[in-house]
Amino acid sequence: MPKHISVIGLGYLGVTQAAVLASLGHSVIGVDPDVNKISKLNCGELPFFEPGLQELLEVGIQTGRMHFVSSFDTAMRECEAHFLCVGTPSKLDGSGVDTKQLFDAIDDLAPFLREQSVIIGRSTVPVGTSTTLEDYLASITKTSFDLIWNPEFLSEGTAVRDSLLPERIVIGSNSDRGETMLREIYKDIISKNVPVLTLDRQTSELVKIASNAYLALKITFINGVAQIAEKSGASTSQLADAMGLDTRIGRKFLNNGLGFGGGCLPKDLEGFSAIARDAGANHFSELLDAVKNVNSDRRKRVKELAEELLQDLRGMQITVLGAAFKPGTDDIRSSPALQLAEDLRLAGAQVVIHDPIALPKVSLMFPDLIQRPSAIEAISGASLIILATDWLEYLSLDPAELGRIVKSRFFIDARNSLEPPAWREAGWKFLQLGEG
Ligand code: UGA
Repeated sequence: MPKHISVIGLGYLGVTQAAVLASLGHSVIGVDPDVNKISKLNCGELPFFEPGLQELLEVGIQTGRMHFVSSFDTAMRECEAHFLCVGTPSKLDGSGVDTKQLFDAIDDLAPFLREQSVIIGRSTVPVGTSTTLEDYLASITKTSFDLIWNPEFLSEGTAVRDSLLPERIVIGSNSDRGETMLREIYKDIISKNVPVLTLDRQTSELVKIASNAYLALKITFINGVAQIAEKSGASTSQLADAMGLDTRIGRKFLNNGLGFGGGCLPKDLEGFSAIARDAGANHFSELLDAVKNVNSDRRKRVKELAEELLQDLRGMQITVLGAAFKPGTDDIRSSPALQLAEDLRLAGAQVVIHDPIALPKVSLMFPDLIQRPSAIEAISGASLIILATDWLEYLSLDPAELGRIVKSRFFIDARNSLEPPAWREAGWKFLQLGEG
């Protein structure tokens, strides 16, 4: 039976969640206070880029299964389930995760709850948040409800696929009614043999943040190894292939380079470190803090290499290819590429940046970086090119053609994505990270 559902908070997660639920046949109201975003969404315009999502949004709107509002109203009383997808950013003082938006959502929702509705938390939160939220809601409403946790594991760039065919569904629940409702909502996904784990709520909260911190640790491990490989003449990519064949280790997330960024891994690493500190696991917390430091060391290493190649960065045109935190998205939050570009600019270089889709977002936050609409235009006249985000289109750049339009043939492949022999044969001084 299709359900009436609300999705509260319309960032990357919420919009994807709303569109996917509508595609499963449910009636969805998306709520977010950003009036501009709401009017765009109601016209079928996505506020960000995510492959496959535009199509789902259009179908959802055309079939009338999905609409968006900027404030809570009586239509919410129709809803049997409410998905909480609001942001949980880091606190400004670095002391953990800020859950204020969740409590604001509960305040707004409380007057419109219908009896026996189910609230499903999807945001990434510190352990214990669902219990605190439940107690809080019970203190401000007499309406009966169940509150369960269902952490999301989708990655930007593959969010639609990850939502429709996830590797697992985690349900953190202490109520049969909540769990039954969620299983009904996800019936068509679960029927594709997707594993469903029903856990207590605190475990489900921890699974998500621990998974992201582990992914950050894994990337960082190989970046640490890369520092040793650089000094000892070894090849990190070959070493990663060899390590990855051990099924206990696995090859995924062992690509060394400029390090991790985005709206999730850096934030969740910091949040998890705070959780570890609060639990008295001080050495573990220090380990997580060290991950953060090793990660930023990689940007410093690229800057050092640039200085070695150019001697003096001042006035030099350095072209940075890529601005998004990874390919397949226009998200520039904590983007290693942009942090590097800004470091180089502050050191006096004239930094020219290109990205296939993220440039409009770059202008707002980094107005001093020079933008060019195509990679070729960005590269023209460069004294050094740095590949910082491994977009597919950069992999087919022609070293001979580029050699004719640059000032000097210096290239740093900071994502270890290109084939060095082709570049070196075309006369380039071509460096990769972690390749001694
Ligand atoms: C991450 C997790 O992978 C998802 O499982 C999780 O659901 C999501 O956060 C979230 O919390 O919402 P995402 O932020 O989209 O997903 O990005 P990732 O694919 O994890 O990549 C993160 C960063 O690590 C990128 O900057 C990427 O370039 C870098 N990376 C990734 C490496 O440097 N090396 C690798 O081998 C893999």
